[in-house]
Amino acid sequence: MSTTAPPLRTALPVHTRLEGAVPDVERAVIEPILDDLERLKRERNAVILAHNYMTPDIFHGAADLRGDSLELARLAAETTADVIVMAGVHFMAETAKILSPDKTVLIPDQRAGCSLAESITGADVRALRERHPGVPVVTYVNTSAEVKAESDITCTSSNALRIVESLGTDRVLFLPDRYLADWVASQTDVEVIAWDGACEVHERFTAAELDDLRAADPGVSIIAHPECPPDVLGAADYVGSTSQMTAWVREHRPDRVVMVTECSMADNVAQESPDTDFVRPCNMCPHMKRITVQNLRTALETMQHPIDVPADVAARARSAVQAMLDAS
Ligand code: 13P
Ligand code: SF4
Repeated sequence: MSTTAPPLRTALPVHTRLEGAVPDVERAVIEPILDDLERLKRERNAVILAHNYMTPDIFHGAADLRGDSLELARLAAETTADVIVMAGVHFMAETAKILSPDKTVLIPDQRAGCSLAESITGADVRALRERHPGVPVVTYVNTSAEVKAESDITCTSSNALRIVESLGTDRVLFLPDRYLADWVASQTDVEVIAWDGACEVHERFTAAELDDLRAADPGVSIIAHPECPPDVLGAADYVGSTSQMTAWVREHRPDRVVMVTECSMADNVAQESPDTDFVRPCNMCPHMKRITVQNLRTALETMQHPIDVPADVAARARSAVQAMLDAS
């Protein structure tokens, strides 16, 4: 049974990339835009980095590199392109800029935010440090550069437990997702002091919803993202980052699976898993959905909107992100 990711479709001619992933009537509109994107990428020496929550036309048709937050950070640090266009949300573009300060990093829509990133400021982190002197600050990457700059180390959903335990302390401040903090705390002896942030997409799932699904279909597999509330995670068969959830489906080939996360995940994974039935519910992230093939094209035509992080903030944020990459 193969657990390897299928090759990127951007290696294929544009007219075949969207086969099986996007309805034919939409392909007729999207394929000319993908042609434009290929030309613009060549002219600008640009790459499109796409998060797993992008719609299938972007994920299968436009992305040069794709993954979860940790993979996108690594890829941003490694690419030799001059321009990175982030098909994701603002904090992901900022992380790319922090790791590649000499590159131009574009976000096609500046309103692509994140409820977690908006829940905390740098001043909040400084105040927490005063209340808990000497306790290290572990910060989820779903935060602004300013918040990362006040942190000792960052983490993502795929490495949060490892990062917390790597510090060798009895207590950590873990910011800003209270549910990811709960999830980590449930698996470690380290005392986890949480902030009160939440993802507006994942906090909407309920355990009652999952119980109803299991009652209707006892054979269904349920896999969830750790930004969900604890009772939802308790009802899941597996908990992992977006790429870890994809890998789980690839490895286990369930007959039926609920991916308790953002809706595009199931759409994207379905294309490589024709024998699996992807059962809903899912919830849509309005911020991720601000990115479209149309505004990716505009971003490369106009070179809008460049990410700018003040040099002193970037340097301090980089050391927290680099500490994570070194520990992962
Ligand atoms: P991942 O790092 O698991 O891709 O999560 C990013 C995110 O925004 C989830 O809501
Ligand atoms: Fe933020 Fe949640 Fe959207 Fe991810 S899904 S970008 S955590 S609001």
